[in-house]
Amino acid sequence: MKYQGKELVVCRDGEELCQQAAERFVRLAGEAVSATGRFTVALSGGTTPQRLYSLLASDQFQPLMAWSKVHFFFGDERCVPPDHPDSTYGMVRVALLAPAPIPWENVYPILTEKGDAQSVAAEYEKTLKTFFGLTEGQKPRFDLILLGMGTDGHTASLFPGSTALEESGRLVTANYVEKLQAHRITLTFPAINQAANIIFLISGQSKASVLKEVLEGQDQPMRLPSQRIAPVEGKLLFMVDQAAGSKLVNPDGNGVL
Ligand code: 6PG
Repeated sequence: MKYQGKELVVCRDGEELCQQAAERFVRLAGEAVSATGRFTVALSGGTTPQRLYSLLASDQFQPLMAWSKVHFFFGDERCVPPDHPDSTYGMVRVALLAPAPIPWENVYPILTEKGDAQSVAAEYEKTLKTFFGLTEGQKPRFDLILLGMGTDGHTASLFPGSTALEESGRLVTANYVEKLQAHRITLTFPAINQAANIIFLISGQSKASVLKEVLEGQDQPMRLPSQRIAPVEGKLLFMVDQAAGSKLVNPDGNGVL
């Protein structure tokens, strides 16, 4: 169904969510490869997409992908080394990048060990500019950006009230997150919103209230960063499970929402 310009898909549970997300991933990759010869995707961290990543590497989905044509980027990263348990790159490497036949030169991690948070962000911005052939002021157009959402309404590492929410020029920025007492590296709104497809994966009862606020509440751009995901010329899809969608108004009267 359509939700004020956004599409919403409600799946039975986390497993069905990731199955359906894997099917869409394969479909979008196929379309992009047919149209342009490559598929550029920025991955999200957190727990929700881990099953998606393992599914993509599984016997069910692995043979369906032209892996050598896929270029993997990251929407955000924690400032820890790649072998740290909190590293998004580390998680994705174990679940997907190592088990699937992905050429390592197609993987563009955020290199957290190459300096302080600001220089790591600047370096990743350079990586994006080089790969996408951007001149000053241009933005990358990813074929797909995957996002998650926290119970506080954050997405990528764009946390409520944080300075990165104000960033209008850069593609990538270092963001100090007060409640984590830590820096994160994140794509900015202008970079994310240029994507051709943006898919949120949201699972679990703990997300139900904030999802309702994000989709059905008033605009609160500083408190609910997820509300500011709005592709300039692309598609925005919320894929949620029934638990996360349990507080939404039922627009179809079909009992799903
Ligand atoms: C990260 C992501 C973050 C995540 C949400 C949802 O933590 O690496 O940047 O935005 O997607 O916090 O995380 P869960 O899927 O664990 O709920």
